[in-house]
Amino acid sequence: MKDKNNQRALWSSRIGFILAASGSAVGLGNIWKFPYVTGQNGGGAFVLVYMICTAIIGLPLMLSEFAIGRNANLNPIGAFNKIKPNSPWIVIGIMGLLGGFLVLSFYSVVGGWTLAYLVKSLTHGFDSFTTSKNAESIFLSFTADATETLFYQILFISISIYIVLKGVDKGIEKICDILMPTLVIMLAILMIRSITLPGAVEGLKFYLYPDFSKINGSVILIALGQSFFSLSLGMGCLITYGSYLRPQENLISVTVYIVIFDILIALLMGMIIFPAVFAMGMEPTEGPSLVFNVLPVIFKKMSIGGIFSIIFFCLLTIAAITSSISLLEGVTSFLIDKYGWKRKNAVLITALAIFLFGIPSALSFGLLENLKLANMTFFDLINNITSNYLLPLSGMLTAVFVGWVWGVEKVQKEIENNTSKSRWPQIWIFLVKFITPLALAIVFLSNFF
Ligand code: PHE
Repeated sequence: MKDKNNQRALWSSRIGFILAASGSAVGLGNIWKFPYVTGQNGGGAFVLVYMICTAIIGLPLMLSEFAIGRNANLNPIGAFNKIKPNSPWIVIGIMGLLGGFLVLSFYSVVGGWTLAYLVKSLTHGFDSFTTSKNAESIFLSFTADATETLFYQILFISISIYIVLKGVDKGIEKICDILMPTLVIMLAILMIRSITLPGAVEGLKFYLYPDFSKINGSVILIALGQSFFSLSLGMGCLITYGSYLRPQENLISVTVYIVIFDILIALLMGMIIFPAVFAMGMEPTEGPSLVFNVLPVIFKKMSIGGIFSIIFFCLLTIAAITSSISLLEGVTSFLIDKYGWKRKNAVLITALAIFLFGIPSALSFGLLENLKLANMTFFDLINNITSNYLLPLSGMLTAVFVGWVWGVEKVQKEIENNTSKSRWPQIWIFLVKFITPLALAIVFLSNFF
């Protein structure tokens, strides 16, 4: 569907938008990253901080990004420029696009891993995953193999390109409509299997019982970064998605649905991973390989595990793709809006640049594993810089922009556009003007000192 005035595509329905934006939010961040950062940062206490960050910082910012996008009807850079012409605030849009570029460069590497695991489950490749030790060594040798990882990374990006080329309503919206509901059902079934494994209780304790002594400044910053990453904030994606939104849609309720859905998937994933990790005597702190080492072993322990693993990795790949397309769409829409590029050229050139930049991340587990920058591999560095610095900083600036520069009255009008008035906007104004920027500034600065 097209907007009559400026020929921009629009989401064809409210639920289509909710699913597409949830498709952007729900992805590897919830399924791959959430369990491993929770495992590394103390379990239950981290989960609690993460939920608080999401409610008081993530939610108001998501609402702000949708409002900016819909009001300006443009890509992230264009949007700031339209709302406050020729002002330095455009830097938020630039940071967003840069962040999107960087995130997609390593996201596509992990997306490639999920594709490879899908192929393994289709070809009985999990037959040898009998113990967690086995699974670990298979993962290590797979990720160290440059040809294989690069091949799957290219495949993953190519699928994203294909969908983004189809455009907003026909490509992105269609695929999210089917995927999201199926994903929830699959996760619920896996959770039941995992919590009924012998020895699962220890895992539940680790995950659900908050040990407050584990909370410190760095844990809070990581929880915040995880919340941003998982909600797709600070990268212009939601501004772009908001720009395809019809004026009469009620922004508050859609935002609340998306946030709840995103948290739900992450929490479910934790309920799958931690009981299994403890039941199998593994360490919750092992990092990015956690999910890949745990899940295949659970599948082996299920009676029709083979079928489950095919469906699961298929869904996981698609969930990763629905996020990756939102990242690709952000940069693409900028090139189309600003320079009038054809969609095809914009998508292809952006994707090629992202792939090239992502190569050192893909090789960080093999050839380049000893190349350390600031004590981290290239993959860890990009992952860390984006989640823990770029996104919180861009989020803080967005809150200041919305709360103090653009003017909350105008934003409130945008949010309420033709919908019934409620008390929510008042709460949101308070959060976005005071709490969100302050909390972000404190967390951010405390990390430096
Ligand atoms: N939110 C996505 C996830 O959880 C990742 C993402 C980040 C997508 C930023 C778009 C923008 O996997």
